[in-house]
Amino acid sequence: MHIYKLDGNTMEIVSCPPQDVQKGDYIIVRDDAVNRSLIVQVTNIGYANVPGVLEDILRDSSTKNIDGRNLDFLDVKAFIDVIKDAKIFRCKIRKAIVDGRIDHDISWTPSRSTSHLINLTDKEFLKLIGLRGENAITLGATKGGAEVSVNLAAIDGKLNIISGKKGTGKSHLSKLLLLSLIEKGGIGVVFDVNGEYINLGYRADYQKASPYEKILVLSPGKGFKVTLGYMGLGVFLRIISSVLDLPENSAWEIRRIWSSLSRKSVLTLKSLRKAIESVSNNYVRDALIRRYDSLVSTGLLTDDPREASTLEDLIFGFTSGGALIVNLRGLPARFCHIIVEFMLSKLCNLLDRWVLRALFLFAEEAHLYLRKTYWEDIVTRMRHLGIFSTFITNQPDSISDGIYRQADNVFLFNFTNENDLATVSKATMVDAETVNVIARELPPHYCLALGRVTNDFPIIVKVKPLNVKTMGETRLFFADTYEQKILT
Ligand SMILES: Nc1ncnc2c1ncn2[C@@H]1O[C@H](COP(=O)(O)OP(=O)(O)OP(=O)(O)O)[C@@H](O)[C@H]1O
Ligand SMILES: [Mg+2]
Repeated sequence: MHIYKLDGNTMEIVSCPPQDVQKGDYIIVRDDAVNRSLIVQVTNIGYANVPGVLEDILRDSSTKNIDGRNLDFLDVKAFIDVIKDAKIFRCKIRKAIVDGRIDHDISWTPSRSTSHLINLTDKEFLKLIGLRGENAITLGATKGGAEVSVNLAAIDGKLNIISGKKGTGKSHLSKLLLLSLIEKGGIGVVFDVNGEYINLGYRADYQKASPYEKILVLSPGKGFKVTLGYMGLGVFLRIISSVLDLPENSAWEIRRIWSSLSRKSVLTLKSLRKAIESVSNNYVRDALIRRYDSLVSTGLLTDDPREASTLEDLIFGFTSGGALIVNLRGLPARFCHIIVEFMLSKLCNLLDRWVLRALFLFAEEAHLYLRKTYWEDIVTRMRHLGIFSTFITNQPDSISDGIYRQADNVFLFNFTNENDLATVSKATMVDAETVNVIARELPPHYCLALGRVTNDFPIIVKVKPLNVKTMGETRLFFADTYEQKILT
């Protein structure tokens, strides 16, 4: 292999005879004269554009029919064939090695004539970039089968995005991250729109699995209810004004009523409704009654303390890490908004008071239940409080460019849609070519991991299977008939 071209952080390497290099592989370009190396990643592979190749191919194919005659008078065919197969590896320079250490300075130019180019095996590459740490977890393996372990510290305190087209394995990876975090003692909260995290405590054969004690499913309005007192005026007001659009002047009235009931220690659903009914201004009264009824109809609120839970009790019930799975499956959109508003406000409150140190939030298809203004809040204020989010979506344009830019880790699964590729390549921390070529070709269950988690080296990972009930299968109408056909 030899350096052919260098343009900015793009290097073209010519390989003749072509080496067995695949897209995503890493090559070391070592310049012994300056005792430095560049670490470059192959992002695209093509044939070398050698003059006369077309002519030779045409000559080859037109003489194929002349049997038994050797037309290779000069005995150069074998040599020309090797040249015809010469490959150009289009690479991106990722980092450098100076004095045996990884270095960010890639501004120097290696010698074209004296540099040695070495194709790293996956194992060698992973050893070089040193991803393991105290809290390492296995994410999966490279295409070549080398185990990819990453340090959970690269997820702690960070914003992660998992994106890719339908059915490629996004939720599976999110479940793997969640289970790894709670196994190490972390607290997780999942907004589970499809109800697919609820059986993580069970194995595929429905026997209890090891995380069983650490998985708690909340069914808002059914098993999970809270009292008005626990919800508190602040959260109540947030819900009725931002989710249920209560006008500001009516919000003042509810504030007055709430304080008066609280002072008399009679803050119940019944007394609240009664007090609202006695509001003299018809307009305000009707507005309040409609919002009250809407909120109460969700079943989230109760006056019975035996039925009610508190997030503190639920979280303290985990002795060494655990996850609250908020099952949003089948809930009306407005109820999802209400419960998400409630959970986030309450969790922030717990973090603010240092009742809770930090938590990992997993939000599937968050655009379905998260107000636009909340996104910024989650990645800025809430992150400082200790809510570390992972957004999972198959619609990359549902996440704004601003959020992508703040992401520390992005896990990209396969995308084929041009618009999706354009969105992701514009917004993620890696160059457009890497996304356009590599993400387009990823097989199912493979992801391109970018960011802190891989020390800023994009790596293709085959995510490992899980031995718990992941429930991600798409329900099929014709599944049985198809299976029968295979069996018979
Ligand atoms: N790494 C993996 N190993 C084994 N099975 C996997 C892996 N990743 C995903 N699967 C399986 O593939 C199916 C689809 O995966 P998953 O539900 O994670 O896809 P998704 O990208 O979240 O799809 P959707 O966009 O529909 O939410 C599931 O049955 C899941 O168990
Ligand atoms: Mg999914």
